[in-house]
Amino acid sequence: MALAGILGTGAAVPEKVLTNQDLEKLVDTSDEWITTRTGIKERRLAAPHETTSMLSVQAARKALDMAGIKPKDLDLIICSTISPDMPLPATAAFIQRDLGAPPCCAFDLAAACSGFLFGVTVADQFITTGKVKYALVIGAELLSRYVDYQDRATCVLFGDGVAAGVLGPASPPSGILGEEMHTEGAYSDHLYIPAGGTVKPTSRETVEAREHYIKMRGNELFKVAVRSMEEVSRRVLKKAGVSAEELDLFIPHQANQRITDAVQERLGVSPDKVYSNISRIGNTSSASIPICLDECVRSGRVKKGDLILMSAFGAGVTWGAVLMRW
Ligand code: ACO
Repeated sequence: MALAGILGTGAAVPEKVLTNQDLEKLVDTSDEWITTRTGIKERRLAAPHETTSMLSVQAARKALDMAGIKPKDLDLIICSTISPDMPLPATAAFIQRDLGAPPCCAFDLAAACSGFLFGVTVADQFITTGKVKYALVIGAELLSRYVDYQDRATCVLFGDGVAAGVLGPASPPSGILGEEMHTEGAYSDHLYIPAGGTVKPTSRETVEAREHYIKMRGNELFKVAVRSMEEVSRRVLKKAGVSAEELDLFIPHQANQRITDAVQERLGVSPDKVYSNISRIGNTSSASIPICLDECVRSGRVKKGDLILMSAFGAGVTWGAVLMRW
């Protein structure tokens, strides 16, 4: 069976920069605390008129251009987001419309920070079974709309950004070599938004209690993150018969530089093979891995034939990994 691969990438990050110094004026924090605990110096913030679908279309156009594919060729659009344009309909519907793609299978996927890898894995199944030729997978987050800028534990972490990948039949030896997806709902209280769903519909009380914003148990999440990313990475590598030393590039979800360092060390990947942009971009949830990949591809950091491992964890808790040859 022919392998599927990522044929093009594109990213769209808002222009406005929110620095640690800006945050010092909003909450009781410091550049020193944020830098040493997370590695983040700045993150991007969407302008009021920018929406998840708007940035998604910008990123998608760049990815389609790189892949040499037209919107009319798309059979599948997956938008991974936990910060949709609206609760209903799916943001993927706006993307399909505004991209000028024909009516096709287009849906949102909610796996938080693991979402882009879940999307790539789903698209891979459709392409390798011949059901679909070209798929667009987008990691799209405007988390600033869901972050409480009175909560110093979370507002320093998250930023806005979108990135896309166009998938299709790969030219050997390129292609997706292995992948895994997992969810463990027992940890669902580690990162969640209490109100706005059926458990607690939005009301004056929920808004006054700020329950429409992200709540996080950072310490607990940290431990799950390191363990799950290490384990899933090891399993995907083992199944493909690839050792950590053979990797040309490791792109972990950009949640915290300390998490990245811990996973890199446990896996035994050489530090110069690990990509990080967290100091500039912060944690953009499902957009973090594709933004990194796009930066690597466009800067020439990734070359044809390189072995790339991408690994993520996110709210749910979800975790997953994808191994591919570029
Ligand atoms: N500035 C200053 N002090 C702060 C801040 C802040 N922004 N935030 C918390 N603190 C304080 C706490 O109140 C606490 O004070 P106390 O000791 O007086 O109680 C102290 O700093 C230490 O807090 P901890 O939570 O123990 O700090 P920790 O070293 O664990 O770092 C962090 C916190 C950065 C959140 C870390 O736990 C982490 O990164 N966890 C993973 C979070 C994550 O990855 N989330 C997203 C993943 S899923 C997704 O991406 C959607």
